[in-house]
Formats: sequence, structure tokens, C-alpha cells
Amino acid sequence: MTTSAPARVTRHHGPEHLRLSEQPLFRRFWYAVSFASAVSDRPIARTLLGTRVVVWRATPDSAVSVALDRCAHRDAPLSKGWIENCHLVCPYHGWEWDRNGETQRIPQFPVAPHPTKSGLTMVSSQERYGMVWVCLAGADEGGPLADIPPIPEFDAEGWRVVPEAEWHFDCSAAHLLENNFDGGHVAFVHANTFGDRSKPELTETEVTRTAYGLQTYGEVPVDARPGESGATVRRSLSRLYLPFFGHISITYPDGLVHIMIKAITPIDDEHCQLTQTVLRNDGESDRPAADILAFDERVETEDRDLLESLPKEYPLAPHLNAHAKADRNSLAIRRLWSDFVTGEFRPAPENS
Ligand code: FES
Ligand SMILES: [Fe+2]
Repeated sequence: MTTSAPARVTRHHGPEHLRLSEQPLFRRFWYAVSFASAVSDRPIARTLLGTRVVVWRATPDSAVSVALDRCAHRDAPLSKGWIENCHLVCPYHGWEWDRNGETQRIPQFPVAPHPTKSGLTMVSSQERYGMVWVCLAGADEGGPLADIPPIPEFDAEGWRVVPEAEWHFDCSAAHLLENNFDGGHVAFVHANTFGDRSKPELTETEVTRTAYGLQTYGEVPVDARPGESGATVRRSLSRLYLPFFGHISITYPDGLVHIMIKAITPIDDEHCQLTQTVLRNDGESDRPAADILAFDERVETEDRDLLESLPKEYPLAPHLNAHAKADRNSLAIRRLWSDFVTGEFRPAPENS
């Protein structure tokens, strides 16, 4: 594994803070907005980068459809509507559309021609890895800059998938992502779960810029892994796929691998959603899925309490904070985002 150059804390060309609403390029990524299993023939609302969308299936078995959550007629939220005869129905005057957003019925005068612009504004969507992914940028904006981040273990033999939860945080997506790559907070924020205030020391991490973002590698001795006893060592390989997706793989000496998929989606500049999935190469009898989820619920609550108390703006410029040796990951992440917004870095389209 390559060791990157020491952190350069003086060079900074980008904006002082990361404001996603001022950076249309963030619309050009795929973001998870929901678990696929949570979408049925009952429309739901999600917000992505300040844009509200409606997500539904025309039948329980059909592919997911996503459109702007605003009726062209009188602006009613379509997510308050329902599905009837495989059509999405607006709750205000009952106009109906098919799964592709084509107008199918205007009930007040059903045989009259449909006005132009009566169709839905559809948004690109895909189902992959048990999640619904949405990209707001249409062809006129250049479409997605990168593919959905890969999760090779998802369909691979020997792995079980534990879809955990959709958690909401009143903090920026950047703060939440940084927190997941910041080993220094564990001893303190997570003192009641897997941290130990008397053992805050860290080992060195190796940070490497990649085609998709960056990766970090580190080894941390721990007293025990969650739910067990006995000292062991966590070897963590954490990958950040631009802009806010984390693939965090923890390997223990006995061969157990615990992977956390952190699909972080910016709702707007000050709110985000984490759709989290765990993958492990052991079995349900080794550690029940319900226990894994219960533990992670506690961990996320600890992070949420702290993160929601931070200032809402995420600082990009190094001079806005003090940085110590333990902040190597955070500095590399801030530099990555800074290089992205200034055009100095673009991810490879295949996220390889
Ligand atoms: S506002 Fe949707 S049908 Fe009138
Ligand atoms: Fe944390």
C-alpha cells in the first residue's frame, strides 16, 4: 500500500466552506435515497440536494419510478397521492400518470386532450445493492460523473447482507462522512459502546488518493469487538467514493470481515441521510442481525448527538480549524472535496 505525501495544510484554493447548494456538480452523482424494499405501490417523498422527489412502484413488482414531487397542474406534492390501476394519482385533482410519467387521465374531462407539460418530470433512478439510487442531473447537465460505487461482496458467495436502517442527521453530509473516517473521536463519543476514554491513542494510517476518491488503511488494537470479549486487532480499509459514500472493511485476525456500507445522501446543506448496510463473512448464529443493528443504532445515536451540535457549515479551508497528526484522514478528505469543487480532481466514471 502506498503512503501519500504528508498533509499539506497551507495550500488551499477553493471556497472556505463546502456549500453543496452552490456547487451544481454534486447533482451529477448517484445517491441512495431509500432501501428498495421500502418502496412499494405507496408513493414516498425524499429530498436530495434540496430537490423533493416522489418514489413509487406502479405495481408491487415493477421497477421503481422517481419524479419531481410537484404536480404540473397546481404544484401539489405527488407523494401525498396514491396508486390506482398502476397509475400515480395526484391528491389534489386526481390527474393520473403511468410509471414513465406520461399523463393517462384527467378525470374532470376524460376525453379532452391532455395539455402539453402535463407529464411528470422524471428523475434518473436505479435499484442496486438493495437500495434505490437517484441522480438529479439530466443529460442537459452532463448526467452522472461516476457510476454507483461498487459493493463486490453484495452478491458474492460467503457473504451475508444485513440492511440496517435509514438514519437522518441534522448535519451536513460532509460532517457525517468525515466523522466516519475520524478514528480520534471513538474513545470519547463512543465511550459507552466500543470506545475507551483511557485509551485514546491511535496508530498511523496510510491515506491514498484513488481514481474514485481516496482510501485509508489502519490497524487499531481493541479490547474486544462489539458483543464479544477478548482483545484483538481491527485492520480497517476505508474507501471514500466521491462525494459521500463510504465502504469500510474491518478484518480481524480470526478471519472475520465486517463491512459497513455508508451511503450518505445530502438532503440539503444542513441535513443528510445515512442508508447503512452491513456485510459479514460469518453466519447468523455467530452474531444475529438483530444484535448488529441494535449495536449500530446506539453508535449512530452517539454520533448524531455530537454532530448535530456542530456549526452547520462544513469548513474546507485548513486555516479555519486546528489540525493534529490524528487528522490526516480528515485533511485528505477536505483536500479531496476542495480539489473536486475547484476542478482539480474528477473521479473516474467507472469508480474503479
Ligand atoms: S394539482 Fe395535481 S391534479 Fe391538480
Ligand atoms: Fe462515530
